[in-house]
Amino acid sequence: MPLICLSSPKGGVGKTTLTAHLAAILAARGHPVIALDLDPQNALRLHLGLPFNEEGGLFSEPPRPWRDAVRNTAWGARVLPHGSLDPRKVMRLQAGLLDAPDRVAGPVGEMLSQPGTVVIVDCPPGPSAGLSALVPLADLLLVVLMADAGSAAMLPLVASGRVLGHGTLSSRLSAKVAVALNQVALDQPLSKAVMEAASRTLGDRLIGAVAQDETLGEALAQKRLLLDGSEGGAGEDLQMLADAVIERLGLRPAAPGAPRRDYTALSDWGLTE
Ligand SMILES: Nc1ncnc2c1ncn2[C@@H]1O[C@H](COP(=O)(O)OP(=O)(O)OP(=O)(O)O)[C@@H](O)[C@H]1O
Ligand SMILES: [Mg+2]
Repeated sequence: MPLICLSSPKGGVGKTTLTAHLAAILAARGHPVIALDLDPQNALRLHLGLPFNEEGGLFSEPPRPWRDAVRNTAWGARVLPHGSLDPRKVMRLQAGLLDAPDRVAGPVGEMLSQPGTVVIVDCPPGPSAGLSALVPLADLLLVVLMADAGSAAMLPLVASGRVLGHGTLSSRLSAKVAVALNQVALDQPLSKAVMEAASRTLGDRLIGAVAQDETLGEALAQKRLLLDGSEGGAGEDLQMLADAVIERLGLRPAAPGAPRRDYTALSDWGLTE
């Protein structure tokens, strides 16, 4: 039911890394998860362990139903890759999506209608037609920034919520914007200063900070995810970011692997949803 979009005005800040980890952590906690890649780099599938030569996805040609392109992963979460396309086709796709947002919103609406399913979307950097198609449906727009000067310059834009654009419609949607600050190194003066500025400027919008951590940086190269939160560092931060997302969305925690039972009588009597 909930839709979470990870985006950023900046590239290379950790959107795909955080999407893959949040998807795996939520799945490990018993939530059915579909991780959707809207970035033509088509990299989310690799973070979630799909083979390099398996290039199909939502936008592959010839078109086929999205359900046929969904893949299971070793982490419990399912992934719907973008699909590999040549650059001209990517440009045509982006232009087409502006006029036909349902090409993305339609499949995502169907995913969200699956009971309890959390859809988590990795967006390309900056504005995109795919993100605009999903903003009205989204419950949480998680903007990822880094603890560096380039990201610091974006703080006022993100704090104001205008990262979604100007006007009344955009400001109504801006309540959905939250921020995760990635690659924080508190022993580095600049990183620490940006972290402090982000806390001051963003207030409640700042829902998580993830340490700069070589293990996380190497996760893709080693075909694994950092899911152990017991040793501090980025692993613990990622678990805490998942906690914050769960709290913000009011997701009901489920025990790992717990069977989902359908107590129809209780819902008929108005005792459960
Ligand atoms: N907390 C972290 N500590 C160390 N390295 C990190 C951390 N988070 C991400 N990285 C590394 O930063 C680089 C960029 O990460 P990633 O590809 O997830 O960013 P992105 O925002 O998805 O990029 P793009 O805009 O190109 O889609 C990768 O090399 C990744 O391994
Ligand atoms: Mg990415």
